[in-house]
Amino acid sequence: MKHLLTGALRREDAISLLDAAEDMHEVQDRQLKKLPALRGRTVVNAFFENSTRTRSSFEIAGKWLSADVINVSGSASSVKKGESLRDTVLTLAAMGIDGIVMRHGDSGAAQLAADWLDVSFPSVRVINAGDGAHEHPTQALLDAFALRRRLFGAQSRGRGLDGVRIAIAGDIAHSRVARSNALLLPALGAEVTFVGPPTLLPPGADTWNTTVTTDFDAVLQQPLDALMMLRVQLERQRGAFVPSVGEYIVGWSLTDERRAKLDDDTVIMHPGPMNRGLEISSRAAEGLQSAVLEQVTSGVSLRMAVLYSLIAGEEPQ
Ligand code: CP
Repeated sequence: MKHLLTGALRREDAISLLDAAEDMHEVQDRQLKKLPALRGRTVVNAFFENSTRTRSSFEIAGKWLSADVINVSGSASSVKKGESLRDTVLTLAAMGIDGIVMRHGDSGAAQLAADWLDVSFPSVRVINAGDGAHEHPTQALLDAFALRRRLFGAQSRGRGLDGVRIAIAGDIAHSRVARSNALLLPALGAEVTFVGPPTLLPPGADTWNTTVTTDFDAVLQQPLDALMMLRVQLERQRGAFVPSVGEYIVGWSLTDERRAKLDDDTVIMHPGPMNRGLEISSRAAEGLQSAVLEQVTSGVSLRMAVLYSLIAGEEPQ
């Protein structure tokens, strides 16, 4: 794998990254969290859209691997003066960097960057850190990593998520996390159900290798190993997709009442940022079943594995 642009990974490649992340995870327990693996390498975090988790965790991941990490934001770069994305990407690459981690508001931006770099700077790797409503592959990988650890603990290595029942609920239409998970989780053997209001299910979702439905309460009556709530992406919704916030909560929010009906061992997940009280209650977000902060912690380990795999180009020792 040269670039990481999509969650459409081969099962063996995905498991190899998850296993590498297990090795990286051990660094988190050390007092001195530094490996020499990417010493002398330079990674640019080019974020043209806001981020807390992804940007910080990529920066920490790069620094823990001893890479030099440079942050470029859309608002503080010459993009504000009208420079094109192509010129921005080629300008950064011309400085001698090894990788670009890119978040952009437009679907396909990371793929375009990879295409341009393959021609002019073929040694530079591109990692898609979220492109519009299209994909967010490292989020899907860290979700799989966090869930695998929750379910299988020390026996996680080498495993997929075969037969694991996962429901993903909420604003599917605007979610790049949903699209990457729709590709990755079935490849790992999981049985995935998407559920949301009919207006927030994207056209074509019925062709995904998953079940798609609108009846949240019926989904919750089935045995579930994990329930992932998705953020209602008010900033991407150009129009009224549900009649009211109240109606959304009645039909599709993980309220305290719905949480009480879940099995005690159903893992509750959310990629963040959360709209508490809208798609998820505070108790559901913070209870013992919640893996929300484990997902954040997993993000550093998984992104260390991705940076290492792509930039050093070898399996970690
Ligand atoms: N989950 C996620 O991508 O969060 P950020 O937008 O904070 O990076």
